[in-house]
Amino acid sequence: MISYQSAKEEIKQAADIVSVVGQFVQLKKAGKNFVGLCPFHGEKAPSFTVSQDKQMFHCFGCKKGGDVFAFWMAYHSLTFPEALKDLADRYNVRLPEKHFSAEEKKKADYRENLYRTNELAAVYFQRELAHPVRGKAGRDYLEKRFLPQDMIEAFRLGYAPKGWDGLKQFLLKNKISLETAFSAGVLKRSDKGRYYDLFRERVMFPIMDLTPKKRVIGFGGRVLDDALPKYVNTPETPLFHKGSCLYGFAASRKAIRETGRAVVVEGYMDCLALRKHGLEEVVATLGTALSETPVRKLKGIGKEAIVVFDADDAGKKAALRTLPIFLNERLPAKAVVLPKGHDPDSFVNSRGLDAFSKLLDAAPSLFDFYIDQKLGSRTGDIDHKVSVLEEIFPILTKVRNETQRALYIKRLSEKTEIAEPVLFSALKGLNQFSAKERPENDIRGQFASLNGDRSIGELQLLNLLLHYPETVAQLRGRHCRELISDPTVRRIVDIIYDGYGHSETLTFEVIQERLDLDEDRIWFREFGFRPAFCSDREVKQAVREFIEKAQKKKIADSFKKAMGDPQAINEILKRKVQAGGPVGN
Ligand code: UTP
Ligand code: MN
Repeated sequence: MISYQSAKEEIKQAADIVSVVGQFVQLKKAGKNFVGLCPFHGEKAPSFTVSQDKQMFHCFGCKKGGDVFAFWMAYHSLTFPEALKDLADRYNVRLPEKHFSAEEKKKADYRENLYRTNELAAVYFQRELAHPVRGKAGRDYLEKRFLPQDMIEAFRLGYAPKGWDGLKQFLLKNKISLETAFSAGVLKRSDKGRYYDLFRERVMFPIMDLTPKKRVIGFGGRVLDDALPKYVNTPETPLFHKGSCLYGFAASRKAIRETGRAVVVEGYMDCLALRKHGLEEVVATLGTALSETPVRKLKGIGKEAIVVFDADDAGKKAALRTLPIFLNERLPAKAVVLPKGHDPDSFVNSRGLDAFSKLLDAAPSLFDFYIDQKLGSRTGDIDHKVSVLEEIFPILTKVRNETQRALYIKRLSEKTEIAEPVLFSALKGLNQFSAKERPENDIRGQFASLNGDRSIGELQLLNLLLHYPETVAQLRGRHCRELISDPTVRRIVDIIYDGYGHSETLTFEVIQERLDLDEDRIWFREFGFRPAFCSDREVKQAVREFIEKAQKKKIADSFKKAMGDPQAINEILKRKVQAGGPVGN
């Protein structure tokens, strides 16, 4: 019988953190570590660091960090047991039954039931679509929208039939409580407390997460005629946050990685139509404005986004609203505006993929598009130009990379026919990004802030103990601990001293786990990602220096204590003269 702990270890052995994270974040080798853009906070320069030796990640920007499970949990918004199960499945490790605490179990069960409800609902809708009688309307509709059977299956499309309680009964039969189904968002509750199906007479689009299991987390459902609302979506639930989801993402991840680009459209149907015609690197927003979270995920695997908008005013407005997000996240973006009256679905179905691809290839940058839209035809109108600049400058101040900012200014100058220096100085007047906003890529700066009140000496000592474990034996018992005044550093050194020499190896991770305080752990992680301050050859010398320093301090402390006690001072002096070895023991 394998133990739970050893299964966990086995997963860690198999699930190399660099390759797991690398599936979601583009990593570059930087010295001993790998770095990339953090998927958990907005940043333009990589401070998200992954260490292969330590099997840990740490972001110097937002301080998130931990092992491969911590990453999986944070990235996919999962609990620990869920992350464990995912990775165990993925790497073929058998998990023994684990006895979680009552509270852990309750939370896990609650979420698991929400997932189960969604999965059951998806199955139910699929079966209903296949039903010879009840599913006919849905099948006819999908045929009318040119969606073939293989797409219907691949995307698990379904049909919610007429009636108020088809799904409700199906879920009850499968032992899902009505409260759970309500929490999962598939049932509604009337004022009188009666539960009923949210989706009725609608073609159903399940929305999947990005884990290999492609768990269903929510749905969109479309009416078959012109009734309103056209689409109904799962409301916000613990599993489903509409604004941070992209439809079709799980299916398009590979293609986005391979082609380097993500085509972002507005609707379920647009996404499926483009795919059907062979464009695979496509995702759809769920009728909400694009927010940071999905952009961060896109930038983790692709190099650029091409956002396709409907020709109507709403589409153009949506395009304009996305610019600051792309600039902020520094994912290069282009904009395609379709001919009047078209959306991607109607366009590709009537004109084919080649015509659509031409639009993609000719797409201007979102920035150019933005300026053109704002300037409109009134290019000669000075007041208008000024008002456009007033809108654009605040956005430009967010671009921290100077080269990039200069390029944008150049572009702006060409379009407005205002000289670059004039634009630059106007921008400067507005700009607050000097002292306060230190560029996030300045990792040395991050380290400086890390030091705080701690003296360099004690930090070097800790650094030495961590990078050269053999020094623990040489330094322990030589009063080096007295050189440390900072409580966090002391706590860490105590763990190292205590653990040293025991059978298990004292890994970086074990030390981290033994620290009780969150702030200690964060500090330690950050500290541990620094390289060794001395080379292999300098280790001996460093050890000698620390021992000497500790001795001197010991003597000085004794002096202080002995002040006014001549006998004691004499003793100390005698020892100091004799001493070649450590004083005091
Ligand atoms: P559109 O109104 O552009 O619909 O909404 P569409 O995608 O072209 O749909 P078809 O082609 O008529 O079937 C774009 C997206 O906005 C969301 C949906 O996600 C839709 O795909 N939406 C739209 C809603 O959530 N609710 C609505 O009532 C309408
Ligand atoms: Mn459409």
